[in-house]
Amino acid sequence: MATAKKKRSWEVWRDASGGLSALRVGTLAFLLLPVAIAVYDYCTVGFGPRPINDVIHRTGYWALLFVMISLAVTPFCRVGRFGKLLDARRMIGVGAFGYAAAHIVLYMADQKWNLWKVGSEIVLRLYLTIGFTALIGLAVLAITSTDGMVRRLGRKRWQRLHQIVYVLSLLVLIHFFQQTKADVWLPTFVAGLFGWLMSYRILIWRKTERGELSTLTLVGLAIAVAVLTFLAEAVGIGIAFNVSPLRVLEMAFDFDPYSIRPGWAVLAAGLTVAAVDWARARFAKPRRESAKPAPVKPAPTKPMPAANVSTETA
Ligand code: HEM
Repeated sequence: MATAKKKRSWEVWRDASGGLSALRVGTLAFLLLPVAIAVYDYCTVGFGPRPINDVIHRTGYWALLFVMISLAVTPFCRVGRFGKLLDARRMIGVGAFGYAAAHIVLYMADQKWNLWKVGSEIVLRLYLTIGFTALIGLAVLAITSTDGMVRRLGRKRWQRLHQIVYVLSLLVLIHFFQQTKADVWLPTFVAGLFGWLMSYRILIWRKTERGELSTLTLVGLAIAVAVLTFLAEAVGIGIAFNVSPLRVLEMAFDFDPYSIRPGWAVLAAGLTVAAVDWARARFAKPRRESAKPAPVKPAPTKPMPAANVSTETA
């Protein structure tokens, strides 16, 4: 008789039943992509005059990106009806922690392993204190990411604990902003995306029973978050350079292809999600209703037993 293969906790490429999962193998390859890019860059153009600083930036950047991608999984699953992707979310989160851990180890190497100096820098420089707090939080989430920990903590408590990822993402964003010296285009864009991801969740929690937003709501959300991104950027630049925020806002409509404002990029991202939702609703098969039982044909002779009525949820 065929028996299911028992999955060991480190065999992340296997699904819960122990079989090889294409989705998990693909996610693993995706998580290792930055390493491949770094090796390629090293072999072709090199890491520049301060190689270790280059790699500190790379690892920090990828850690941030994977944190944001892990937050994007939920909307992606709901809008694209691709629930299977949820299985990859924990892997992406652990991958984010892996890059964040490499980031601090490289920082220690840059400080010549003088741990006293590393510690005092973390205490004295606010952006490092914030980064360190985020790192500790990500470590807690990574340690509690195994199936065994989910069972031990219980699903409800585990979910509540993992909601700290929202606060941690905010801390990472602040760390990103604080260490950016000149051009804040990228941090502003990522902050706009984070705003969209959080607003999406708030709307889902408050507005819907089925956990879905209409295409129109998604269009409204894209516009609202883009407007907030423009305003936040205008106020930020206004304060930093002592100029009128209105003047900065006017510049948003100078459509120079080399300096398109992050608010437009946030709008494009939000509208893309709305377009995917519209296309899915228009062309894909409708989801089965969970509330209504399947219509039961009248049986002329025997009544249908209650257990045969479909209770499957979508
Ligand atoms: C103890 C914890 C941390 C330390 C000591 C640290 C240190 C640093 C340092 C030294 C830089 C470069 C600053 C510069 O060149 O002036 C940096 C940049 C950065 N860090 Fe961290 N960091 C920590 C935690 C984190 C975490 C947890 C994340 C993300 C999850 C992160 C994401 C970033 C990002 C996105 C950048 C900017 C990269 C770029 O501009 O390309 N850091 N960090």
